[in-house]
Order: sequence, then structure tokens, then C-alpha cells
Amino acid sequence: MTDTTYDLIVIGGGPGGYVAAIRAAQLGMKVACVEKRGSLGGTCLNVGCIPSKALLHSSELFEEAKHGQKHGIVGKISLDLKALLARKDEVVVNLTKGIEGLFKKNKVDYVIGSGMIAKPGQVGVTTPDGKSLLLVAKNILIATGSEVTPLPGVTVDEKRVVSSTGALSLPNVPKKLVIIGAGVIGLELGSVWRRLGAEVTVIEFLDRITPAMDMEVSRQFQKILEKQGIQFKLAMKVSGVKASNKDVVVSAEPVAGGKAEDFKADYALVAIGRRPYTQGLGLKEIGVELDERGRVKVDGHFQTNVAGIYAIGDVIAGPMLAHKAEEDGIAAVETMAGQSGHVNYNLVPSVVYTMPEVACVGKTEEQLKSENVQYKVGKFPFLANSRARTMGNTDGFVKILADAKTDEVYGVHIIGPQAGTMIAEAAIAMEFRASSEDIARTCHSHPDLNEAIKEAALAVDGRAIHI
Ligand code: FAD
Ligand code: NAI
Repeated sequence: MTDTTYDLIVIGGGPGGYVAAIRAAQLGMKVACVEKRGSLGGTCLNVGCIPSKALLHSSELFEEAKHGQKHGIVGKISLDLKALLARKDEVVVNLTKGIEGLFKKNKVDYVIGSGMIAKPGQVGVTTPDGKSLLLVAKNILIATGSEVTPLPGVTVDEKRVVSSTGALSLPNVPKKLVIIGAGVIGLELGSVWRRLGAEVTVIEFLDRITPAMDMEVSRQFQKILEKQGIQFKLAMKVSGVKASNKDVVVSAEPVAGGKAEDFKADYALVAIGRRPYTQGLGLKEIGVELDERGRVKVDGHFQTNVAGIYAIGDVIAGPMLAHKAEEDGIAAVETMAGQSGHVNYNLVPSVVYTMPEVACVGKTEEQLKSENVQYKVGKFPFLANSRARTMGNTDGFVKILADAKTDEVYGVHIIGPQAGTMIAEAAIAMEFRASSEDIARTCHSHPDLNEAIKEAALAVDGRAIHI
């Protein structure tokens, strides 16, 4: 790297940062991306979305094979955990290396090191060997993501008490695993280790799992997970975690008061949320404002209160999701280039990649009620979907919420096989402001899981065919 003057310096090479860097280069900007991890892809590719989905896939295959008799697949199945974890690592390395290739193709300079904003227009970088570099740019984009929210009084040693990162690489299948937090991480990684043979108990502070989800879907989800063997201890607060070399004891008591209970396990996973990561960026010194939750404050164009400094992804407000970070990144750099970048935050899909998967886009029934919106509901169970029957995966349903008068679709909630893939149909329809009638009159291929969306749309008007 000889010339250190850029149009844009991106700090952080996660899905927000690397996508923004590539899009900015496509728009003709000279771009550098500073990343301290030593590999690109951020939380998502290195210790988040990708390794967790690799484990979910492998563990699902293991469980299916174990119960293959009903498909006529017989024989003893055993697990090679080392090989399973190695495959996950290989998937991660291939994808992170792929981003390096994309950077080369788009002529984005990849600067390995920790970035700090010295002043507007200047980023100091400390490289892994302790050298200092000074990069200069017209614009700086903060894309430093998030980190695990700590549980006060509990030390995550990544040995017996682990965060999601440790839970992606446990050296053996726990006999017992205690998970603190019944959110997305707890349920996805809990599913992985349960399928591989662990007895899983989830302790949750609230009286329900997955708090942001449509309540009806959430209740059904809990029932299905319980049927699979996951135990839930709801409305319980953890009062202490004691770890030794060989096990861990989590003490919890009812939130409403009452007798404390001890949960002894091989490992405890702390998964109570994530918080924005801004350490070491020098934001206070240059006066970049944060909100009450430590997120970088931005306006509708991702601009902070300091001219020339922008922020996107997990480090700003909004759902902490990779695809949201990517959309932020694209919109931010398109705005810098004088285009009208835009993200529709009402239609960011969210998916829990368990079996069945749970996916939603738009409003929940509870949100519509609280906004006094008059709505109609159409529901269709996978039990009545022929493709789900051929797969033997009939748990769950599709639920569509549409305006009572205009019929515009406001929310689609799916719990069922491949719900995460199916939800894209709903997101596109809603982006074009479709009515349930529009979906109902769209020809869907047969036999397909997506026919359940069409049937739910028909059900909004009381005319589903197969129930
Ligand atoms: P990050 O991906 O966190 O990237 C920020 C990068 O900035 C990091 O690599 C960090 O090293 C770097 N950095 C920080 N400070 C500096 C600095 N000063 N100098 C240089 N570099 C710096 N989301 C989904 O949408 N789908 C999923 O299936 C999903 N699964 C997940 C599973 C797990 C276990 C976890 C933990 C998260 C998951 N997420 C998922 C969330 C997703 O990972 C995040 O929303 C996404 O990574 C946010 O992208 P980002 O670019 O904002 O930040
Ligand atoms: P989360 O916010 O999804 O869930 C945290 C859960 O912990 C909540 O149910 C909360 O009520 C509970 N909780 C909070 N404090 C607690 C306490 N002291 N004791 C017991 N329970 C407590 O957070 P999670 O699961 O850590 O995931 C972080 C983020 O990562 C998610 O919000 C999501 O944005 C992202 N993610 C997305 C995935 C996906 O899209 N498939 C997969 C995994 C993570």
C-alpha cells in the first residue's frame, strides 16, 4: 500500500462493512477496509451466521439419519464430532477467503489492524505487529458491529461458561447444557447440541421465549421445541454461575420470588443479547454522539453528528441482523455518492434456523393491536400441505395478517420447514404492497411448501382449498 489517501475508509469488515466497501468501489470510490480480526466477514462469517448454520445443517442430518427407519434407512449411526466441527471451520475459511477475493476484484484495499478515528478524515491503524499507519479519507464509515452482552457477576471463560463463540466449538457433546436466554442464539445452538445428544435446559427471564416474535407463533415454537426435548425454565432469573474444571452450576430463582434452583451441567451458554461495539474507536474524543444504549447515533442518511463520519449495521439502532447491516451499508455509500440509498426497516425479515424454522416479516398481531389497526387473519397448517407430508415435516403453519379494509398484507409469520427460504416471497409481495388477494391469485408450483402461503392468503378471505 503506497498511497494512503482514499474517498472512503470503512472500519470493520463484517457484512455491513465489506458490502459497503465493495458497493462504494463499484460506484467509483477509492476504498480501504480496516479489519482487526485477521479475517474478513465479521461476526457473521467467523463466529455467527455461517458457523452456526453449518452446525445446524450437520446436526439436522445426524438427527434425520438417526431416525431414518421411517424412510427405510437402517443401520447404526455414530457421530464424529471432530469431523463435524472441522467441516464447519472449512466452510468459514472458504467464505472469508472469498471476500478477500472480492476485495481484490473490486480493488478495495484490505488493511489488517485496529482502526481509530484520529480526527474527521483521518484513521490511525495499529497493525498486528504493532506498527502505526495513518490513512486519510473524505468519508469514514463505522461498521464495528457488536459483542456479547455480559451477564453481571458471571465470567465467560469460553471453557465451561461460554458465549456463542465457545458454543460453536465445544470439544465434546455435553451430557447437560444449560443456556441462559431463550432468544435466537440460545434456541439455534441449543438445537444443535440437543440433536447431537445433549440434555438442554434453557433459563429465560421473561415468561415466554423469543420475545419479539408473534405470540401465537412463539407459543407453538415453544411446544415444538419441548416435544423435541428442550426444557424451558421461564420467568427465572440467574443469581449465580459457579464453574469448575469439569462442570458448572447455574443458580436461578423465579422472577416473582420463590425458591432458588440449581442447574448442574457440563457447560453453560450465556446468550442474553448483543451490544454495540465501539471500543477504541476514539468516538468520545472527536465528539461522535452515542444513544442511551451505546449505539452510534445517525440520521436517516447514516450520517453521525460529525461531518464525514457515518455508521451502519449492529453498531447503530435496528435489528442486529447481517442482511440489515448489508442494506445499511449499500444505502449509506449510495447516499455518499449522491444517489438515494434507502432501507425499508418495516420489511426486514427475521429467521430462526431451528427445525422447524421460524420466519417473519412485517408486523406481529400484538403490534397491529397496539396500533389499533383493524386486521384479518389467514392461517394454513403444514399438516395440510402435500410437500410437507412427503417430507414428514408437518409441524407449524403460515399466518398472514392483512388490513381489514384494503387487504394490504402487514405481516407474514411462518413456522415450518424451510420457513427462512419461504419468507422471501412474502417480503417481495409486501415490498410491492401486495394484498392477500394478490398472493392468493398468484400461481404457485405444486407440490411445494410455498403453496401454504397461497392457502393462508386464501384463508384471509375464508376460501382456503385444502382445509
Ligand atoms: P460485525 O459482523 O460484528 O463486524 C464488525 C467487524 O468490525 C468485526 O469483524 C470486528 O473485528 C471489526 N472491528 C471492530 N472494531 C474495529 C476496529 N476498531 N478496527 C478494525 N476492525 C474493527 N444474523 C443474521 O442475519 N442471520 C443469522 O443467521 C445470524 N446468526 C448469528 C449467529 C450468531 C451466533 C451470532 C453471534 C450472530 C448472528 N447473526 C445473524 C447476527 C450477525 O452476525 C450480525 O448482525 C452481523 O454480523 C452484523 O454485521 P456488522 O457488519 O454490523 O458487524
Ligand atoms: P436475543 O435478544 O435474541 O435473546 C436474548 C434472550 O435472553 C431474550 O429472550 C431475553 O429476554 C433473555 N434474557 C435477557 N437477559 C436475561 C437474563 N439475565 N436471564 C435470562 N434471560 C435473559 O439475543 P441472542 O440470542 O443473544 O442473540 C443476539 C442477536 O444475534 C439476536 O438478537 C439477533 O439479532 C442475532 N442473531 C440472529 C440470528 C438469526 O438471524 N438467525 C441467529 C443468532 C443471533
